Amino acid sequence: MHPQTPLFDIDEVRSKFPALERREAGRQVAYLDGPGGTQVPESVIAAMSSVLEGGVSNLGGGFDASRVAVRVTAAARAAIADLLSCRPSEVVFGQNMTSLTFSMSRALARTWAEGDAIVLTSLDHDANFTPWAMAAADRGVEVRVAEFDPAAGMLDPGSVIDLLDERVRLVAVCLSSNAIGTVVDVAPICEAAREVGAHSYVDAVHAAPHHLIDVGALGCDFLAVSVYKFFGPHTGAIFGRAEVLQRLQAYKVSPAPSDPPGKFETGTQSFESLAGVTAAVDHIASLGTDGATRRGSIEMAYQAIGLHERSLAQRFLDQTLSLPGVEVYGVPEASEARSPTFAIEVSGHTAPGVARHLATRGLYVWAGHYYAVNVMERLGVLDEGGLVRIGFCHYNTIEEVDRAVEALSEL
Ligand SMILES: Cc1ncc(COP(=O)(O)O)c(C=O)c1O
Repeated sequence: MHPQTPLFDIDEVRSKFPALERREAGRQVAYLDGPGGTQVPESVIAAMSSVLEGGVSNLGGGFDASRVAVRVTAAARAAIADLLSCRPSEVVFGQNMTSLTFSMSRALARTWAEGDAIVLTSLDHDANFTPWAMAAADRGVEVRVAEFDPAAGMLDPGSVIDLLDERVRLVAVCLSSNAIGTVVDVAPICEAAREVGAHSYVDAVHAAPHHLIDVGALGCDFLAVSVYKFFGPHTGAIFGRAEVLQRLQAYKVSPAPSDPPGKFETGTQSFESLAGVTAAVDHIASLGTDGATRRGSIEMAYQAIGLHERSLAQRFLDQTLSLPGVEVYGVPEASEARSPTFAIEVSGHTAPGVARHLATRGLYVWAGHYYAVNVMERLGVLDEGGLVRIGFCHYNTIEEVDRAVEALSEL
């Protein structure tokens, strides 16, 4: 057992992920690209294949393979409900977060009129920016943008709240930045939005693999996640508060369900993926030790995940903050205010060049803007090719952190 894992056995966790065995040119590959998509445990693969192998049909048939689709869908809704602490009927599935957000933006924008306004932030991934900006342009609605502080890498909730007034109909904000890892204190933002009669839409795609989410505590109307970012298949899910989902008119074909969540789920869902969704949530729960309820285990699991990830983040920061020529963006300590995702710059090298060098050492990292274009623009690095992104998650190890630092020190 590695020394940095006080709450779970990292070797045992890693043994569940077949992809972590990958070797290239005689080296063990280190997946430090979790923010772009995580690897999946064997249990997810098995759940997905068993649905396909066992026979599955569409919803609504009077035979067993159709009942499989019904059961798999209900189980996945219950799993996401446990993950986010909401009701299963408040969980809407779709292809990915971006598609779901475009769809939800169309439904919400139907209720907007000229003279209204929406509030977005420059810390957000473009999937929580452009769908809203386009919907606003369609309806003649003003777009206000709250800026994050590029020096501190923080988004002050006050800078969002200051833009709110009774004309504002929606606030879209991320829980954690997929570029620089900053965690945003969204609860006061959602509360202030509610006070002026605006909806709040939280992008928790980057947060979900790292931080416990409780939509009730956040007080949001909507919250989006992407299951492939937390050890599952390529499927998106959003929480929508029951009364809001009920009230909204969905863009849907006429024979589709008229009640939520079905009215927001366009076409046929990927049932094999939904089986994988349940297995992914169960994987997270398996990292906790509360045997009483899945939500209880999930809460324990995130404590273990947080402890482990902060030890990785601290190790990375301790070494890179003093590495000549390396600049680390965002919060400079491994606290609750950040996810273990680091955007860095190495002087004299382009971001793609650094990523290519790390790849020769078997280290998978991302380079560019990762669709966080406004973040890169505000940091002044968009035109020079963005930044290198090194992201850790619960299956990464201290050894992998050290390998990354060593490879950076070679430049
Ligand atoms: C913070 C964040 N939001 C949204 C998205 C878009 O998610 P999807 O690929 O499910 O559309 C991503 C994907 O990288 C992301 O990191």
